[in-house]
Amino acid sequence: MSSDALTGAQQSGGLSPWRLSVAPMMGWTDRHCRYFHRLLTRHTLLYTEMVTTGALIHGNAAQHLFFNTEEHPVALQLGGSEPTDLAVCARLGQERGYDEINLNCGCPSERVLRGAFGACLMGEAALVRDCVKAMVDVVDVPVTVKHRIGIDKVENYDFVRDFVGTVAEGGCQVFLVHARNAWLKGLSPKENREIPPLRYELAYRLKRDFPHLTVVVNGGITTDEQIATHLQHLDGAMIGREAYHNPWLMAGWDARFYGDEARPVPTREAVELAMIDYMERAHAEDGVNWYSIASHMLGLRHGLHGARKWRQVWSDHRLKPLPPREVWALAQAHVGGRSTELSAESLVPTL
Ligand SMILES: Cc1cc2nc3c(=O)[nH]c(=O)nc-3n(C[C@H](O)[C@H](O)[C@H](O)COP(=O)(O)O)c2cc1C
Repeated sequence: MSSDALTGAQQSGGLSPWRLSVAPMMGWTDRHCRYFHRLLTRHTLLYTEMVTTGALIHGNAAQHLFFNTEEHPVALQLGGSEPTDLAVCARLGQERGYDEINLNCGCPSERVLRGAFGACLMGEAALVRDCVKAMVDVVDVPVTVKHRIGIDKVENYDFVRDFVGTVAEGGCQVFLVHARNAWLKGLSPKENREIPPLRYELAYRLKRDFPHLTVVVNGGITTDEQIATHLQHLDGAMIGREAYHNPWLMAGWDARFYGDEARPVPTREAVELAMIDYMERAHAEDGVNWYSIASHMLGLRHGLHGARKWRQVWSDHRLKPLPPREVWALAQAHVGGRSTELSAESLVPTL
C-alpha cells in the first residue's frame, strides 16, 4: 500500500470499515451490480439502492432485502422518517444479514406529509436523531446517515455541524457526507448531483470538529489520487458514478487502499466469465434474465480498444433470446486476446 493512502486510525491499527465504499444508487446498485463489484474488490463496502420503509412494510420485504452472501460487507440504505417504521425495517435488515443500516438524508425530495425521505430531513435534525435512536435501540449493527452539506441556499457550515451534532446524540457515529447542497426546488435529481458546488472542506471541518465520529466524503470522486487525498483528512471516501461507469478502477483498491496484496488483481476476462456463471445461476435459481445483470457491467472495458463494440453486443436487444455464454462469445470477437490465467471461481469470495 502506498503511504499516501495511510492515515490516522489506519496507521495505528485496523482499517475503518468505511474506508472505501460504493454509493447507494437507485436503479444501479442492485444485488447483481453489487455481486459484480465484489468480484473487483474484496474489501470495499457496498450499499444497496434506497428502499423505503413503505416498500418494506407494505410490500414484499423478502424480495426487497434479498442479496447474495458473496456481497458482504453490504449496507442496507433505508428511506423514511417515521421512527417506529424505521425501527421495524432496520430490524428486518439486520435479521436478513446486512452489515449496516443507513438512513438516506441526501436525496433531493420535497417534504410530503408522511413517508418523507432524503435531504429534506436535514431541516429536521431532531426528527433524524429520533429516527436514528429508534433504530439503534433495536439493532446491533451500525446505524449510519448519508446526508448533504446543506439544503437549498443554506450555505453556512453551522447548519451541517448542528445537524451532525444533533444526529450523533441519537447514536449515529458514522456520517457519509455528499459534499454539496441539495436544492429541493427547481433542480432534477440528476442536476442536484452536478450543479450545487462541491465543498469538500466542509466535510474536513466536520471531522476536525467531531474527531470521535467517522466522517466519509462523497461526491465527484473519480481517481485513486483524489481518494488518497481525501483519506489524509477523513476516514473514508464513497464513490458513486465513477465506480459504476468505470468499475475497473476498483480492481486496484484492495492492494492500494487495504494493503491486501494476497489476492491477485483479477483480469477483466476472468471477471466477465465469473459474471456469466452468475447469470446462468441467477437464471436457473430465480429466473433472472442475463441482460438485467449484464447492464451493470457495460463499463468493464471502459477506455479500452474495442470497448464500444463489446458493449454493444452485451446490450443488443436482438440477442436477448440467446444464452449468456453465446452472447459472451460474440462479444469476445471485439476484444483482442483473452487471458484466463485467473479462473472465474477464484474471484468469488470464499465464505
Ligand atoms: C442513478 C443514481 C441513483 C442514486 N440513488 C441514490 C439513492 O438511492 N440513495 C442515495 O443516498 N443516493 C443516491 N444517489 C446519489 C449517490 O449515492 C451519490 O451521493 C452521488 O452520485 C454523488 O457521488 P458520485 O459523484 O461519486 O456519483 C444516486 C446517484 C445516482 C447517479
